[in-house]
Amino acid sequence: LSDRFRIAIDGPAGAGKSTVARRVAERLGFLYVDTGAMYRALTLKVLEWGAAWEDRSQLARIARESRVELVPAPETPRGNQVFLDGREVTEAVRSPQVGRYVSRLAAVAAVRDVLVEQQRALAARGGVVMDGRDVGSVILPDAELKIFLTATPEERVRRRWAELRAQGFDVTWDDVARDVSERDRLDQARSASPLRRMPDAVEVETTGRDVDAVVDEILRLVERRRASCSTGS
Ligand code: CDP
Ligand code: CDP
Repeated sequence: LSDRFRIAIDGPAGAGKSTVARRVAERLGFLYVDTGAMYRALTLKVLEWGAAWEDRSQLARIARESRVELVPAPETPRGNQVFLDGREVTEAVRSPQVGRYVSRLAAVAAVRDVLVEQQRALAARGGVVMDGRDVGSVILPDAELKIFLTATPEERVRRRWAELRAQGFDVTWDDVARDVSERDRLDQARSASPLRRMPDAVEVETTGRDVDAVVDEILRLVERRRASCSTGS
């Protein structure tokens, strides 16, 4: 029973989802799946092809005809390696340019359908921590534990800015603030699987807390949920 446990972690950009999800997966010996990386990989392809962002049927066709693979790689910085049509794009998908466009692609329902099917397949065996925007609402609506991770907008911008600078991108604070708020706005306003906290998700606020404290809190929630599952309540 416990090996099939599935943890869904959703929240806005820079809330700490991937960092925390990876560590939780590591502690439990679970698989970590970064669903955002799949949207980022397709966005990279659309940018490279110079496809038209208004043409939703073309975007959907690109999604259907591309091969996006997520390979668990716990020893690497992001925990997953990303391949697009056989080419490794793990680093490339983290660029600020991809970040600026990804929410446009993610708003296309037919694109989401393609990726959601693959994401469900990745979680089919359980023992998984998956992070994104619609994990608890659409991909795994019956996940054993759902977390909604948050932090104040300033804190999220600060984290994303520091991360991009550390990766060598010459971005200003204002660039990052604009991108993060625009992406949050698009992710929450879209009609296809918008980002929202599910009523059965536990909200975990991370502002001013270090990663270990947040990970420990989630592990305690897992223990509690497992105990209540095994007593059948
Ligand atoms: O790491 P960060 O929070 O910047 O974003 P991400 O998880 O890499 O996701 C990038 C974008 O992909 C999000 O802003 C969403 O537009 C989209 N996304 C989504 O729509 N659904 C998901 N399950 C994951 C990501
Ligand atoms: O995936 P998401 O966009 O939600 O966030 P992330 O890519 O995990 O980036 C969060 C950044 O904030 C990382 O550099 C973390 O080290 C840092 N951080 C955190 O994730 N959680 C905290 N409680 C404190 C800092």
